[in-house]
Amino acid sequence: MKILLLGSGGREHALAWKIARSPKVEKLFIAPGNAGTSGCGENVAIKADDFEALKAFVAENGVDMVVVGPEDPLVKGIYDDFKADGRTKDIPVIGPSKAGAVLEGSKDFAKGFMQRHNIPTARYRTFDGNTLEEGLKFLETLQAPYVLKADGLCAGKGVLILPTLDEAKKELKEMLGGMFGGASAQVVIKEYLSGIECSVFVLTDGKNYKILPEAKDYKRIGEGDTGLNTGGMGSVTPVPFATKEWMQKVEERIIRPTVEGLAEEGITYKGFIFFGLINVNNEPMVIEYNCRMGDPETESVMLRLKSDIVDLFEGVACGDLDKRTIEFDERAAVCVMLVSGGYPQKYQKGYPITGIDKVEDSIVFHAGTASKDGQTVTAGGRVIAISSYGKDKAEALQKSFEEALKIDFTDKYFRRDIGADL
Ligand code: AMP
Ligand code: GLY
Repeated sequence: MKILLLGSGGREHALAWKIARSPKVEKLFIAPGNAGTSGCGENVAIKADDFEALKAFVAENGVDMVVVGPEDPLVKGIYDDFKADGRTKDIPVIGPSKAGAVLEGSKDFAKGFMQRHNIPTARYRTFDGNTLEEGLKFLETLQAPYVLKADGLCAGKGVLILPTLDEAKKELKEMLGGMFGGASAQVVIKEYLSGIECSVFVLTDGKNYKILPEAKDYKRIGEGDTGLNTGGMGSVTPVPFATKEWMQKVEERIIRPTVEGLAEEGITYKGFIFFGLINVNNEPMVIEYNCRMGDPETESVMLRLKSDIVDLFEGVACGDLDKRTIEFDERAAVCVMLVSGGYPQKYQKGYPITGIDKVEDSIVFHAGTASKDGQTVTAGGRVIAISSYGKDKAEALQKSFEEALKIDFTDKYFRRDIGADL
């Protein structure tokens, strides 16, 4: 079959790598892709949210399935758009409908959904410009630290954790005053949860689901989890505290009520659900939902998926995911992200990347790269993910760190403490 994968990051390179290994795939297109995805299939110069051009491409090239990597096209309604067009209505889109993507697109909706379905999460309230005074009063009822979250999409950067009431009040005013543009027209104030985080991924056909290997990601730029939030600096799977018993709680209290809740509310959901969880005194609670796979979690999770991912996608499309098998590699897998100096703030692009061909023991996934005059150059904040297997986490990390020294570009930076807290 012919598959079109949408997106251009490290997550998409990892998905492309996995999809390309499926014997069912005759041709893989990636739109727009990056310098790395062109090694797994054919890059197509169409943006992931240019629905008209994508539909025309699918119709003209006989594409049999569309797999959506990033949240943006999903939140903009690509699923519904394809279904509403005679040319593409029968082409499966792996990803939720617009109504389903709201789980990620609106933090307020997500919190309300969890409340309606009794899914454990932090106490919260949502405020806008008209209810600022009430928001300031609500802050006074909470204990420090204070968690403020922009309602809309902010590429993982819309959350502020403030140590004092004064700072929280000041930031609430600034967020509602447009700090994140329209995305912070509404702000969710949440009770702070203390614990270690874990990302759990599910693939669902709307009724049945398969749980993928869990992973931990490292969001802060600095070692020891300090500094600004990034898109993610590395990931590790499996996560030691996600024991069989813990995962059973996750499934019973969180995964099943979510999938059933979506169906009950008449929301079409055929794709990945990413549960951002936190372990509070050995009890899993939900921090957030995302309507896609995680990045950089995908760059380690795909290594541990032994089954044919395209077979699973077919199960999603046909609604018979319960009849498909999912198997995992027992080894550990990790990813260490090489980023541009200055990221997540200002950084330069266009630096030549050397040494990728010297990597032997790891898998290199491109995140922010481009091809220029026959050379691979940096083209984003997160540049390259170095993913490795190991008999355990320590062995896998050692490989990634060693390979991280071989790849070079101006102002390269990476965290040397990925996985050290586990
Ligand atoms: P999110 O965008 O929800 O993933 O939030 C980014 C990060 O902020 C999370 O990974 C957590 O580390 C932190 N965070 C968000 N909400 C809470 C909360 N209620 N309690 C503690 N930490 C939180
Ligand atoms: N790694 C977190 C995310 O993809 O949102």
